[in-house]
Amino acid sequence: MSIKNSVVVGIGKGGSCKTTLATQLAGIWSSEGKKILLADLDMQASATKVVGLDPNQHGDGRHLMDAIMYGDDIATVKARDNLDIIVAGRHTKTLSNHLVTAQSPAEAFAVPFEKLNAIARYDRIIFDLPPSGSSRLADMAMQTGQYLLVPTSSGVDNIEGLRVLAGELEQLNSDILLLGVVMMKIGAGASRKRLETQQQVTEILAGVADPFQTVIREAGAAYDDSRKANLFLHEYAEWASTVSISNQIRGRIKIPGNLKDLAREFYELADEVDDRIALAEQLLTGETAA
Ligand SMILES: Nc1ncnc2c1ncn2[C@@H]1O[C@H](COP(=O)(O)OP(=O)(O)O)[C@@H](O)[C@H]1O
Ligand SMILES: [Mg+2]
Repeated sequence: MSIKNSVVVGIGKGGSCKTTLATQLAGIWSSEGKKILLADLDMQASATKVVGLDPNQHGDGRHLMDAIMYGDDIATVKARDNLDIIVAGRHTKTLSNHLVTAQSPAEAFAVPFEKLNAIARYDRIIFDLPPSGSSRLADMAMQTGQYLLVPTSSGVDNIEGLRVLAGELEQLNSDILLLGVVMMKIGAGASRKRLETQQQVTEILAGVADPFQTVIREAGAAYDDSRKANLFLHEYAEWASTVSISNQIRGRIKIPGNLKDLAREFYELADEVDDRIALAEQLLTGETAA
């Protein structure tokens, strides 16, 4: 049973940019008028923090636990216009442990989401997964999601990591449709190195997954600044565009030079993901019509 229009962002160890990808896409899509639900499934609650919420003040993961374990309606928290989030936290770990011992079927996870979606009617539900192999909750989301989006930052420094990823993708034990792999944190400076990386990734993933054309550049300072401001990148870039030249020249406010490029890449990626989802939908409706 898969939930229509749901996108799982997952597969990969901690720091592979799952949360970065899930949250920035959620931010862009919601700003464009799509109604989005972001489900934070990691007890680290990174996605919750990226949207600017303190997990402690919003149930610490209790909402999803109560829904799956006790059949309550899922409580969501509004993070922006058009953007609701299911907050994670320490109870997410309790839930994850419970799911292992109770040997709950994947439906136990899917049903509360379907109930919620029947009322709220989201255009898209995004699941932000914990690191691979670490939780039953992640497995259940993989059984429940319609589409899978996989970030990789291993192209540059770690081809071995990429081979592991390719192996994991090949062994996917689910009907989930792989939309593609997103290359992230790739140096933008040397264009030959960039091209080489792109070729390597494409080669290793050949027959397993299609990398997206858009590559998200390495821009740690710009990303960190947006985090410090508790804003999505596109919001932070918008704010930065209002800072007066004199303040910038005098150095009162420092705007990283690559902020705009980074924000633009996420917009381009969001469009590309939209296109692949639209194409997949066409193929799926074609199939049912035939
Ligand atoms: N464009 C970027 N360039 C460099 N570093 C980045 C960029 N985007 C995100 N990061 C950093 O990479 C890390 C990714 O973390 P996160 O998205 O939480 O990974 P995961 O959810 O897979 O554990 C964070 O430390 C973040 O600051
Ligand atoms: Mg994460």
